[in-house]
Amino acid sequence: MSTALYTEHLAHVLRGTETALATSGFEAAVFPYGSYRSKSRYDDQDFPFRAAPHAEYVLPLGEPDAVLVVRPGKAPALFRRAQTSFWEKPAPFAHGWMLESFEVRTFDDAETLLAAVVTLAGEKAAVVGEDATVARRFPNEHRDPTAVVTALHELRTRKTAWEIEALAVAGARAAAGHRAVAEAFFAGRRSELDLHLVYLAATAQDDSETPYKNIVALGRNASILHHIAYGRTATEDRSLLVDAGAPHAGYGSDITRTWVRRDRAGAAAAWADLVGAIDRMQLALIAAATPGVDYEALHDSCHQQLATILVEHRLAKGAPEALVRSGVTRAFFPHGLGHHLGLQTHDVAGKPRPPRPENRYLRNTRTIENGQVFTIEPGLYFIEALLEPLRKTPAGEQVLWAEVERLSPFGGVRIEDNIAIVEGAPRNLTRSAIPQGDGSGL
Ligand code: GLY
Ligand code: MN
Ligand code: MN
Repeated sequence: MSTALYTEHLAHVLRGTETALATSGFEAAVFPYGSYRSKSRYDDQDFPFRAAPHAEYVLPLGEPDAVLVVRPGKAPALFRRAQTSFWEKPAPFAHGWMLESFEVRTFDDAETLLAAVVTLAGEKAAVVGEDATVARRFPNEHRDPTAVVTALHELRTRKTAWEIEALAVAGARAAAGHRAVAEAFFAGRRSELDLHLVYLAATAQDDSETPYKNIVALGRNASILHHIAYGRTATEDRSLLVDAGAPHAGYGSDITRTWVRRDRAGAAAAWADLVGAIDRMQLALIAAATPGVDYEALHDSCHQQLATILVEHRLAKGAPEALVRSGVTRAFFPHGLGHHLGLQTHDVAGKPRPPRPENRYLRNTRTIENGQVFTIEPGLYFIEALLEPLRKTPAGEQVLWAEVERLSPFGGVRIEDNIAIVEGAPRNLTRSAIPQGDGSGL
């Protein structure tokens, strides 16, 4: 990735931070990366370290105990701990060249480091992040001041060219894993745990490095939206749903593919046809994601199109509008169409207002703008906990239950791509790296 793009990104973030400080009466910003957190006070194991996104936005260092200080008109300062422990060392920083834009100071101990941070930041500093060790050095009203945090989160909703490239690289890395998993699935019987390990190996990731816990679901398990209790035995299932990403420079991709081992004319063929229909709908929704479009309207359009698919595939009958109005489509597709994506998988500030009550799980209620990156991830599932109550209501009479029973062993389909809005058009960061289609081959 280009140094020029990062330099531009850094200048943009520093300018945005300065504006956020100026409008809220602060003169410096302190961004701690955070520290290891103990799993329990009864032993000495820590949770895997996750650096604070507010600090990563400025510099994707990912290093425990480091702290950034940003002051208007000055080079940003990075405070680091000297790595002297003979027990452990953090991985070397992969983008060392970025440090040239920082004034770097290294300290042997935490106390001296924190004292130097407080001195440099001065009396009018806002500290942003969840690190209590650093935050307690500042007055209460200087910790995560709402005006500063809101302005920074707003800034993060429009990605710089460098962020979009980081997300594209994270997508390409994840795509290698999706390919390897699909190849393993098509080659023969594998367990979910097996396939998860294939994904980690192909993306050269440790489990704790993935942006979120991989979802790997064979057959009926695909109806569990966040299935992470991987089965340990190989099964005869003909369907596989994999929702998995990869990081790059602090940014993470979030990609879902649904694969099918077709049979000649049986249920698996019908299932692949349905996956193909969801795929075409997903691509149409992406094409419609242009600046000025309300994302919630896109989510509504997805329900309309899904109703037509349910009728065409003989899972329901009646007018598509009636299937949406009566809640039938929501029993098959209960989650939101997508969310903003960036340093966090469900990135900040995607929901400036709540969605309408019937869309309560929707995480993106923004109007689409240039620079946004979000997912488009429609799905269709056979979820017992939602279908069983529907069966007992008048709306349930619109459902063709025999076909639901026939396709239920495939669990569900979700197709998720990462979309950047660039110069007025959606740029799909995912498709060129990993295909989908009807899921019956790569
Ligand atoms: N993998 C979590 C999500 O798709 O939102
Ligand atoms: Mn997602
Ligand atoms: Mn996902």
